[in-house]
Amino acid sequence: MKREIIQLLLEQEVISEEIAEELQEIDNDKLVDSIKEFALKQTEKIKSKKIQEHLETTTIGKTIYCFPKAYSTNTLAKYLANKNAEDGTIVIAEVQTKARGRSSKKWESPKGGIWLSMILRPNLPPSKASLITLVTGIAVAKTLKSFGVDAKIKWPNDVLINGKKISGILTEASATLNNIDYIVVGVGIDTNLKIDDFNDEYVKSRITTLNEELGEDIDENEFIAKFLKEFEEVYDLYKKEEFESILNEWRILSDTIGKYVEISQSHGRFKYGYAVGINKEGCLIIEEADGKLEKIISGECRTKGER
Ligand code: BTN
Repeated sequence: MKREIIQLLLEQEVISEEIAEELQEIDNDKLVDSIKEFALKQTEKIKSKKIQEHLETTTIGKTIYCFPKAYSTNTLAKYLANKNAEDGTIVIAEVQTKARGRSSKKWESPKGGIWLSMILRPNLPPSKASLITLVTGIAVAKTLKSFGVDAKIKWPNDVLINGKKISGILTEASATLNNIDYIVVGVGIDTNLKIDDFNDEYVKSRITTLNEELGEDIDENEFIAKFLKEFEEVYDLYKKEEFESILNEWRILSDTIGKYVEISQSHGRFKYGYAVGINKEGCLIIEEADGKLEKIISGECRTKGER
């Protein structure tokens, strides 16, 4: 186990050969604390101790791994989940070098943003796993609102300000036939960044950042603590299977319902219609031109204006 985790951290370029050698000398039962200690010394701004100073949660964020750099916090979190990391464990990196977005797209993660993954064990059937994306979107939007911006959610999982994307969510689950084993929810939020911190011209034209909106940086440790609190509140409803309350919150924050949408799906297929609602599985319900209602399970959504 020790050799394996050190190897992973090396592979992901989280630690140097030198630190790996130091960790190799540490007793198994002190390894996790030593990794956290190492991380605490190395990160510039985001510090697990500072987050925990602001934290008002019961389970989410009781264990936080905060690294200066990683390929992808989702990959690290999945590894830790497979090694029995507990419900609510958080993995953060100040910079990601091989971060993943939806549909196998790259996700630019320069220093200044919030790149985190949560390990969740909700004890629910696999059919409920995708709803966690909505839960997370609600928490991101509410946190952003509390920092003074008008955040809205575009189905299924983008958080927008004035139509520009500020946050994305990548959910990856592992389940048996009847039960979710774990869900890793990765959240990227463009906080203390400028548009010019990004390289891709297409990305630049479609995003905004909290700094661009507010004209100043925010305290990222405070922001993360607030997000984890908002998340835990909705996650508690999810664990209690109070899905209707979650959907109601989502509907209020939605930028999609009440608009015409174009959904691009796999194999170049498209669906067009008027978004009328969302169902218990988190599917978008659209009314097509002939009045027929269609259930959309997945796809990339573009909003096209109101009726
Ligand atoms: C999207 O395409 O909108 C989803 C983007 C998800 C990015 C986050 S950043 C933290 C976590 N680690 C990853 O590699 N991806 C997610």
